[in-house]
Amino acid sequence: MSLYIKTREVAAMETLRIVGGRELRGSIATPGAKNSCLKLLAMSIMASGKCVISNVPRVTDVETMCQLLEALGARVSFTGRTEVTVDPTTIASAAPPDPLVRKMRASVQVLGPLLARFGEVKMPYPGGCAIGSRPIDLHLRGLSAMGAQVSEEHGYIMVRASRLVGTDIHLDFPSVGATENLMAAACLASGTTIIRNAAREPEIVDEQNFLTRLGADIRGAGTDTIKIVGVSELGSTNYSVMPDRIQAGTYMIAAAATRGDVTITGVVPEHLDALAAKLAETGVAVIYTEDCVRVAMGDRPGPIAVKSMPYPGFPTDLQAPIAAYLTVSRGTSTITENIFSNRFRYVDELARMGAHIGVDGRTAIIRGVNELTGARVVAPDLRAGAALIIAGLMARGETTLDGMEHVYRGYDDIQGKLAACGAEVEIVTDSASAAVAEQ
Ligand code: UD1
Repeated sequence: MSLYIKTREVAAMETLRIVGGRELRGSIATPGAKNSCLKLLAMSIMASGKCVISNVPRVTDVETMCQLLEALGARVSFTGRTEVTVDPTTIASAAPPDPLVRKMRASVQVLGPLLARFGEVKMPYPGGCAIGSRPIDLHLRGLSAMGAQVSEEHGYIMVRASRLVGTDIHLDFPSVGATENLMAAACLASGTTIIRNAAREPEIVDEQNFLTRLGADIRGAGTDTIKIVGVSELGSTNYSVMPDRIQAGTYMIAAAATRGDVTITGVVPEHLDALAAKLAETGVAVIYTEDCVRVAMGDRPGPIAVKSMPYPGFPTDLQAPIAAYLTVSRGTSTITENIFSNRFRYVDELARMGAHIGVDGRTAIIRGVNELTGARVVAPDLRAGAALIIAGLMARGETTLDGMEHVYRGYDDIQGKLAACGAEVEIVTDSASAAVAEQ
């Protein structure tokens, strides 16, 4: 596999310098969705031939998943900038290596596919963004219900099942990752699996479409009940990843925050409805034309209340970006985080820029200020990094953002896209350290 993105170590040497106060104007194309692409790559483990996946985003989490597949024995190759071919027929191991699993929470998504194909998986608990406790009990309980034996040995999860057996599973919470893992595993189980209280995120529909192209028998993705009739084998396919609603949403918020006028192309408008409704409530003009959304704003936002919810509610991944935007609202806004327990780690960083935010349990109370001022800040996680970039674009003066390695996990050339719309942004590299990291 050719490395096509800078390594995490090199990214860690980079700082984003932003001179705020420039209105964003122009258009930004939406890349493929990281959160779907990662799962399609993992699900390709179950294919009996090559999977050619296109519209792949150039983000480091995708790179990590490709490395993980290679470590298992798959052949992974890139064609051009955005197409990946996975040949899973050479996979020889069902034990993903520790360092890769710990790097990224989504590595848990190989669990269901590996179990379905090999009948046995050994892996450590996954890592990922530090946004609160993220157990995988729902994944494991679902697999147990399908007949798997789950045990923990010396910090590793061991899961075994000679063949999974279809059953009825009721999720306590509509977990995206658990729905995806169980949906994948059920494809090769004997009999019928029904997942109730399933997550309804658009990425799950994308994955159903991908698995169906591979020969799986699945219905209901996008609703809270998914029915999977097991088949004995899956084939091979070509598939294009759906657009990234979180990247698109981040640029919509950035456009509004800079009081600019930006058209985001290549979106699925209904995926952005919850965000569009909230932006409109603050006074933004949101105009859809086919697969484009234009966002125009000329003023400080009006205050609003935002509550993150499972889809079709307001996405937790846009909670930090919209909070940054609301720091200058004309009044007091509230943000309630209902999905993750620790997703306000950006608050102290925004405070360095002059924001007034108090956190009470799951709610952040944002008292709008006239303006933010540039400062040196650090991205504590992926979406918080995006929020701090938005804050930097709004602020008076210069902001420098460290922790860009988090941002590159999920954003595809963010500085290039913002610069093309008139932002004054540049990547500053500590070249001596970067040279060492490259070796
Ligand atoms: C996915 C997304 C992430 C997004 C989240 C919610 C990817 C790679 N990541 O994460 O960007 O923010 O959906 O839309 O697609 N939970 C349990 N037990 C479990 C599983 C989850 O308690 O077994 C809890 C989690 O701790 C969390 C909540 O359920 O509080 C939601 O998690 P989940 O929907 O599973 O999110 P992820 O799939 O990890």
